[in-house]
Amino acid sequence: MVRDVVVIVGSLRKESFTRKLAKAVVAMAPASLKFRFVEIGNLPFFNQDNENNDTEVVARFKADIKKADAVLFATPEYHRSEPGVLKNALEIASRPWGKSVWGGKPAAVISVSPGAIAGFGANHHLRQSLVAIDMPTMAQPEAYIGNVSQLLDAEGKLVNPDTVKFFETFLKKFELWIEANSAASEGLTKAAA
Ligand code: FNR
Repeated sequence: MVRDVVVIVGSLRKESFTRKLAKAVVAMAPASLKFRFVEIGNLPFFNQDNENNDTEVVARFKADIKKADAVLFATPEYHRSEPGVLKNALEIASRPWGKSVWGGKPAAVISVSPGAIAGFGANHHLRQSLVAIDMPTMAQPEAYIGNVSQLLDAEGKLVNPDTVKFFETFLKKFELWIEANSAASEGLTKAAA
């Protein structure tokens, strides 16, 4: 079965390593995983006063997430956490209460950094929020991608064979994760009917 997977990148920077890495990873994906990037840089700041009055941009963002089978988060680390723009996107599409578009969608997280700690803090802060918005998030393999500037060439291709191998496994496991969790939520829907 072909699955529609949204990619959300937590950096707005033009030359973002995180985006380059995410592009390199999705370029390796099997035909059964169709990735599409959904942008978060044009979203307004979440304000609970407006949560019932979506602007066109917000409505489109929610619709883009709603129709997806799964979500891949690729995040840099800002001060040992995920960037505010990414947290803002989570908040926007989680409200109003009871109308979140995230719930039940299988997810995976890749953290990226030019540094050696590889965005561990961002990866786990993000995972904490994904629990709250009910996204079953793949536990293994964990993707902490450090020293990223040494992993990509000028065209954005992955230059390290070990990294390529790692992401081949990551994608295979993510596909299994999506299938297992989609089956589980389809079963729950049937059971509730
Ligand atoms: C950073 N950076 C950073 N790196 C890291 O590994 N851990 C951290 O806690 C932080 N903190 C941090 C805060 C702020 C405000 C900025 C702007 C940057 C460095 C960061 O990893 C680097 O700028 C990356 O290049 C950002 O990712 P993109 O934009 O290249 O995807």
